[in-house]
Amino acid sequence: MSGKRFHLSVVVSTNLYTTELLSHSGIEPWTIVSADFQSGGKGQRGRTWESEAGENLTFSVFIKPRIRVADQYCISAAVSLSILDLLDDYGCQACIKWPNDIIVNDHKIAGLLIENQLKGSIVESSVIGVGLNINQVHFNSFRWPATSLKLETASQISFDRAVILEAFILRLKERMKEAEKDGRQIVESLNEHLYCQGEVVTFLQNDEVIQGVVRAVTTDGQLLLSEKEGIKAYSNGEITLKNTFG
Ligand code: BTN
Repeated sequence: MSGKRFHLSVVVSTNLYTTELLSHSGIEPWTIVSADFQSGGKGQRGRTWESEAGENLTFSVFIKPRIRVADQYCISAAVSLSILDLLDDYGCQACIKWPNDIIVNDHKIAGLLIENQLKGSIVESSVIGVGLNINQVHFNSFRWPATSLKLETASQISFDRAVILEAFILRLKERMKEAEKDGRQIVESLNEHLYCQGEVVTFLQNDEVIQGVVRAVTTDGQLLLSEKEGIKAYSNGEITLKNTFG
């Protein structure tokens, strides 16, 4: 279960490149496209993803998961947990900010952009885009402050990105097996590492401020918040966590 590897020095976006490969020639599951630099890296909700050339991991993995559309958040859970597993190997404790940011010490170390191709009630295929900050030590000020593995481990030397990518793929294969076997279990594992769980936090819904205690994420990817009126569920894109410290 291994597709081809493509490493490009420059590309617009590895997700875009993978999607184009898929539509032009078809590709094998576990094809991986990585790049040293993306000139138009895509982030969540139409944002861009900035990453210094040659310092970080920016890549996409194409898979054909055995996951129903209703359970598609499990793919995100599996990818997020694989990143946590990987960072843990380097002594770096991370958590998952719903819906799919990876946070270390209140700073964002990785982001995911998962683009699923749906067929009826099943996820036919999935392009998993990951931006994982490895060796970059200076960041522009973003909406959410950023960090990298090098900064978090106070490492004097730079990490070998290819080695980290290989380790991630092994982790992802394991976590995807878990997700396909039991979607509820993988989201339960995610809930063990949920950022701000049990804390009162402020979210924004358009311009409206919402305060609530972060409870859990459901198997269909909704965030449960305890508010004055009771427990409310929010879908991805409905609310964003307000950065109150940066
Ligand atoms: C986010 O947090 O906004 C998601 C960022 C996802 C960035 C990665 S980098 C590799 C892949 N290709 C892209 O264009 N985006 C994703």
